[in-house]
Amino acid sequence: MSFFVSTPIGRVLSRVSLDLNIIDLDVPFALMFTLGASLNALNNLGVLAVVSWEVLLVSMPMIVLATRLQRYYLASAKELMRINGTTKSALANHLSESISGAITIRAFEQEDRFLAKYLVLVDKNAGPYFYNFAATEWLIQRLEIMSATVLSFTAFVMALLPQGTFSPGFVGMALSYGLSLNVSFVFSIQNQCNLANQIISVERVNQYMEIQSEAAEVLEENRPATYWPKDGNVELRNLKIRYRKDAPLVLHGITCKFKGGDKIGIVGRTESGKTTLIGALF
Ligand SMILES: Nc1ncnc2c1ncn2[C@@H]1O[C@H](COP(=O)(O)OP(=O)(O)OP(=O)(O)O)[C@@H](O)[C@H]1O
Ligand SMILES: [Mg+2]
Repeated sequence: MSFFVSTPIGRVLSRVSLDLNIIDLDVPFALMFTLGASLNALNNLGVLAVVSWEVLLVSMPMIVLATRLQRYYLASAKELMRINGTTKSALANHLSESISGAITIRAFEQEDRFLAKYLVLVDKNAGPYFYNFAATEWLIQRLEIMSATVLSFTAFVMALLPQGTFSPGFVGMALSYGLSLNVSFVFSIQNQCNLANQIISVERVNQYMEIQSEAAEVLEENRPATYWPKDGNVELRNLKIRYRKDAPLVLHGITCKFKGGDKIGIVGRTESGKTTLIGALF
């Protein structure tokens, strides 16, 4: 129960709806596209390397550079997706609270305030998503500039070589293969990044797989005797209660006896722990 007490409902809602939705519908496709695109790029590279191994001289630095760019991009992009996930919870929370409190909000004519807060939360949530989008464009732009540079440089070198070094058919084939290698390469990296962004949802749901469980409902070795309770005596000795591990003590050592058959009233100012005491007895 402490999980439900300490976790806002919006956070649970967003994991079981939005994140599971991404895991069920988007991740499989992203995985498929990533695998397909990466195999395609590797395939293109393989064919080109067999036809002329010199292509490796150009492709290897390109792959190293692209991987570094990708790593640089992913560090920010993943964090942006995480922020997007956490702010989504705040949004869902506000929405569910507003819906359940609609009558009170209307009674006090606070619709405008709640709408304004809603819009602020929407902006906060959409911001990181947009930045993630922009970061992806940043990466794609650099990858495309890189591959365009390599391709045009190759074409330039081929044009500079003395006539007859390569047959025109070979030049055409090499360039078109190079082009398709570049395109498939950029496409593959784009898909890998997309997958990495969506995997954040798996990470978020996975956090809920490791919640500490409550103690077992019945502890066989602690079962009271069948004739229990013989008479309704209750004795508390130095009862201390806190709601969670690191929370402050709510009851600071209560010692008292309730005799069987007595009717007891517990008096205290608000928040003094009356409900906590009766809860502890149950
Ligand atoms: N589920 C909970 N998780 C954490 N703290 C709690 C929880 N329920 C109560 N508390 C805290 O325990 C303290 C005692 O609360 P409790 O509800 O037992 O008081 P009370 O005497 O019943 O108050 P009231 O007169 O308002 O019913 C308060 O400081 C409250 O904030
Ligand atoms: Mg109470």
